[in-house]
Amino acid sequence: MITKILKINPQKPETNKIKQAANIIKNGGLVAFPTETVYGLGGNVFNEKSLKKIYTTKGRPYDNPLIAHIANLKDLNVLAKQIPESALKLANQFWPGPLTIILKKAQKISKIATAGLNTIAIRMPNNKIALELIRASNAPIAAPSANKFTKPSPTLAKHVLEDFKNKIPLIIDGGQTQIGLESTVLDLTSKIPTILRPGKITKEDLEKVLGKVEICSHKTNKIKSPGTKYKHYSPKAKVILVYGKITRKLINKYLGPSTSLRVNKIAIIKSSNNIELLAKNLFKKFRNFDNKKFNIIIVESVEEKGLGVALMNRLKKSASEIINAEDRS
Ligand code: TXA
Ligand code: MG
Repeated sequence: MITKILKINPQKPETNKIKQAANIIKNGGLVAFPTETVYGLGGNVFNEKSLKKIYTTKGRPYDNPLIAHIANLKDLNVLAKQIPESALKLANQFWPGPLTIILKKAQKISKIATAGLNTIAIRMPNNKIALELIRASNAPIAAPSANKFTKPSPTLAKHVLEDFKNKIPLIIDGGQTQIGLESTVLDLTSKIPTILRPGKITKEDLEKVLGKVEICSHKTNKIKSPGTKYKHYSPKAKVILVYGKITRKLINKYLGPSTSLRVNKIAIIKSSNNIELLAKNLFKKFRNFDNKKFNIIIVESVEEKGLGVALMNRLKKSASEIINAEDRS
C-alpha cells in the first residue's frame, strides 16, 4: 500500500477532496485527519473490520477503547444509551471542541470500539476538515490519535507519515493542529463527573456548567481509563522533568564527567509564560529532537493551572526522571 497525502484547506475544505477521503472510510479503510487537538486515525465506527484495523495499525492493545467523533448532536442518540442532561449542557457549551465525554453505550455499538466496556467516549471536534469528513462518511468516525502505540501524538501530517508510511491509504494534511494536546476526557457515568484525562477544557471550565467535578487519581484511573495506564507520549530520548530552573550545573551533570566522556546529546525545553504555545509545540519538539538524535531532553515544569495541568500531565507521563533543580545544582 502506498500512503497518499492530500492537502485540504482547513478554512474551506474542498468538497471533492473530502469525498475522496470519505470514500475510503465508507469502504472500510482508514484515513488520518486533523482535529483541533492532534491528528486522528479514523475508521467507520459501525464497521468492525475498520475498528480492528485501527488497533493493529497502531499496535494498540485491545483493552484501550477509541473515541467516536461526531459532527451532529443527533448522533449522540445513535452511540449512547442514556443521554443525561449534563451531556447536553456540556455539548451546548463546549462542542465542537476539545472535550470527550463518556456515556453508557448503545447496544448496537461494537465492543471493539469500546474495548469491551459498556461505556463509549464521544466528541465533536472543532475542525472543519474533521467535521466535513464525518458528514461525508455518513457515520461517526472512531479515531485514536494517529501515532504508533506509545509515541507522541501527531500534530502535523508528516508525524503521521513517520509512523504509518505505507500502512494506511490516506493522510489528510490540514496543517499544524492548534492545541497540540489531546482532548479532556470526562466520565459522566460516575456519580460525580470525573476527569480521566486533563486537556484544554479545564476542571474549572467544567465546574461552571456541572458543579462539582473530580479529577481521577492515578490509581483508580488505571482501571477507569484504560489508556492512561500505558507509558505515553514518549520520545525515544530520555525525558527529565525539572521543577525549577535548568542550570548550567544541572546540564553538566547529564553531559558526563569530562569532555572526553560527553556522549550525551542534550536538548532543553524551557518553561515560558506562553503555555498555549508550549503545549502546541511539545509533541513536535519531542519528535524533532528524536530525529536529530538527541538522547536526553530536559524540560522545565510549568505551573499546574489552566492548560498547565494538561501539559504537566503529559510531561510527567513522558518523563523517566522527575527532579528538583535545587537537588542537583
Ligand atoms: O484529542 C483527542 O482526544 C484525540 C483526537 C484524535 O480526537 N484522540 C485521542 O484518542 O487522543 P486516544 O485514543 O489516543 O485517547 C483516548 C483516551 C484513552 O485514554 C482511552 O483510554 C480513553 O480515551 N477512553 C476511550 N473510551 C473510553 C471509555 N469508554 N471509558 C474510559 N476511557 C475511555
Ligand atoms: Mg493516543
